[in-house]
Amino acid sequence: MTIDLIIRNARVLDGNGAPAFSADVEVDEGRIRHVGTASSSARTEIDAHGAHLAPGFIDVHSHDDGAFIRHPGMAFKLSQGVTTCVCGNCGFSAIPALPGVDQASASGGILAGLQGSFSDLNGYFAHAAAQGPALNAIMLVGHNTVRAMVMGFEQRRPTGAELSKMRALVVQAFEQGACGFSTGLIYRPGRWSDTDEVIELASAAHDFDALYTTHMRNEGDKLLEAVDETLQIGREAGVHAHISHHKAAGRPNWGKVRESLARVDAARAAGQRVSLDIYPYTAGSGRMIEYFNLNDVNRDLAEVIRIASCPAFREFEGRMLVDIAAERNIDVTEAVKLVLTAPGGDRTICIQFIIDEADIETNLRYRDMMIGSDGIPDLRGRPHPRLFGTFPRVLGEYVRRRGVLSLPEAVRRMTSVSADTFGLLDRGRIEPGRFADLVLFDADTISDTATYDEPKQESAGVKTVVVNGRVAFQDGVHTQAAAGHMLRYRRSAWTGEQGNGQT
Ligand code: ZN
Ligand code: CU
Repeated sequence: MTIDLIIRNARVLDGNGAPAFSADVEVDEGRIRHVGTASSSARTEIDAHGAHLAPGFIDVHSHDDGAFIRHPGMAFKLSQGVTTCVCGNCGFSAIPALPGVDQASASGGILAGLQGSFSDLNGYFAHAAAQGPALNAIMLVGHNTVRAMVMGFEQRRPTGAELSKMRALVVQAFEQGACGFSTGLIYRPGRWSDTDEVIELASAAHDFDALYTTHMRNEGDKLLEAVDETLQIGREAGVHAHISHHKAAGRPNWGKVRESLARVDAARAAGQRVSLDIYPYTAGSGRMIEYFNLNDVNRDLAEVIRIASCPAFREFEGRMLVDIAAERNIDVTEAVKLVLTAPGGDRTICIQFIIDEADIETNLRYRDMMIGSDGIPDLRGRPHPRLFGTFPRVLGEYVRRRGVLSLPEAVRRMTSVSADTFGLLDRGRIEPGRFADLVLFDADTISDTATYDEPKQESAGVKTVVVNGRVAFQDGVHTQAAAGHMLRYRRSAWTGEQGNGQT
């Protein structure tokens, strides 16, 4: 018989963490049919020549809500081997929305330009699916978005009526298939909420067994207090808590990730469901205005800032703030004000070098640590290279060059662990019956090529990417198969025993 696709002579990494084994993989009608020796013929046959075949990578931390509409080809993710993105992170989500209103009012540069006729998750999914997305999406509902919609930018606690309104919006998103409730408690307006407000809203996830994911209130001097708050929210809301882009920001705090991981360990030992993700870079990135108090500009931070995109001063893009200040003969704190107070300055996205390399290794060695790009898909200017390079960077730099973790373990963290945690039913493993999201890559050469100076470069070593059984990327060519699905959360498969502690 003739089926859709056969990939022959692959070294299969099944996503469960087992060593690679040689096999052919048969795909038909979007799903994996057989793993072993192919006995059929196929309309498309690919000879892997011994390259590694893994389940498609799952980007558990994306901000691609708008990208699925503006850049449905999703080249920056597909070329890394990513086949599914979890959108709506850090408290910013495309939904709920008021039709015709630019979501940027709540999210600044992060979801900039996202305008649609949709108001809820069903509407967003219909709109995104109509664009022919190259890969799959699943969505979190964001606290900042919900709060801005109900309360604007009011710096106070919600009234009882406002809180019920917010909760109703969160529940509606869950009913329509959101996989979790996300916060960005460092950002406005989320930072004006107290712990009780977050517990009340996160507890809406309980009935759906969905997640609470968080960009915590503090990732620097008060990292440990923020971890405690996250654990408290998870406990009291009765939900799985997931810490996004775990890090210790700022030199005085470097090394603290060991203590915060110890707290997570203690919570897990006590039976709490807690998980984390990281991106493999020493710089963060986000909306610059969120990081500075203009009445008291933090000099240490200003000195490690690089401008990614800046509508007010395009000529600053790709440059360190200290160099801009030196050229203009002004203090670096003045340069911060110059950028942020200019018209449109609040839309500036910056890159900040605040993370210790050793902490990245500590994080990657931690059991079940997932990978999320946190890429901000603003393709003007010079975005953080994590947008194009995250997954190949883990495999090239941290697996092959440094040996921080093994190849099967790294792949497991990018596939089955993420699929189980985020409720991506029938994905994340190469097994008969699962959806055929696959990536074929050369383990000896896979690497990120995106740099801070040249960030918009597709990675090396990724040969073929299959999404829902269709070849979406082949030898550097995006096939425009538009085979992505909008996915609805069904259930968690998290057991708390994902890890065997080995790397
Ligand atoms: Zn974040
Ligand atoms: Cu984020």
